[in-house]
Amino acid sequence: MKQYLKTIFALTMSATMLFAAVGCSSQEPTSDPASDEQQEATSGEVLTMATNAEFPPYEFYEAGDVVGIDVEIAGAIAETMGKTLKVEDMAFDSIIPALSAGKADIGAAGMTVTEDRKASVDFTDTYVKASQVIIIKADNTEIVGPDDVEGKTIGVQLGTTGDIYASDVTDNVERYNKGFEAVQALAQGKIDAVIIDDQVAKALAADNADVKVLDTPFTEEEYAIAVKKDNTELVEQINAALAELKESGKLQEIVDKYISAE
Ligand code: ARG
Repeated sequence: MKQYLKTIFALTMSATMLFAAVGCSSQEPTSDPASDEQQEATSGEVLTMATNAEFPPYEFYEAGDVVGIDVEIAGAIAETMGKTLKVEDMAFDSIIPALSAGKADIGAAGMTVTEDRKASVDFTDTYVKASQVIIIKADNTEIVGPDDVEGKTIGVQLGTTGDIYASDVTDNVERYNKGFEAVQALAQGKIDAVIIDDQVAKALAADNADVKVLDTPFTEEEYAIAVKKDNTELVEQINAALAELKESGKLQEIVDKYISAE
């Protein structure tokens, strides 16, 4: 019996590792290796959060755990609902399909509210204002603002609003699974610029002396939590919890913990 379990464990581990190694490079929504677990998790007193933990300071890995602003906000929401939070990390473009399939209850991933997405999911009230910004090489003097990236080779994270905006201004969009990979490619001179969310740009650029973030934002946007289409009850519950967190100052406290005021 023990041996049998070990084998299962070994198989699961190698499948997971294979998944991690192969990555999710297709445009197709990727299937999730942990979907069975998710199915279980959505029943009962667990609130399952689908996210993509490649997005500091909103969600990222620290000592093997997914942490960050969204994780703490979702944790606080779960608490007010009397539930425990379970975090499922997946490709960003798998989050909406996971919600639609009922494999996760909420999508909390620094997700910008867009009209297009509203056709597939419902959004709660917004909880953070954000913007898309441009990262360039530190020694680049040619690109000084949004107008200068037209026609350039722009790196983005696949399926994000940065992807959409970059596609509006150039035919040369390089799509990466992780924002971090886009910044690496930029530092190596493979692309001219990266378009990504402001706080994430700051976090990624802080670790890389070869790049810098431009001041002028490309677009203004707002983040909200996504739920399965027509799950009005859950939206209302989350909105009530969010209102409480805003009112009590807890939300700001969480944000301040990860983002230092300038
Ligand atoms: N705000 C952008 C969007 O909604 C990027 C979000 C990426 N989030 C992530 N956890 N990787 O498209």
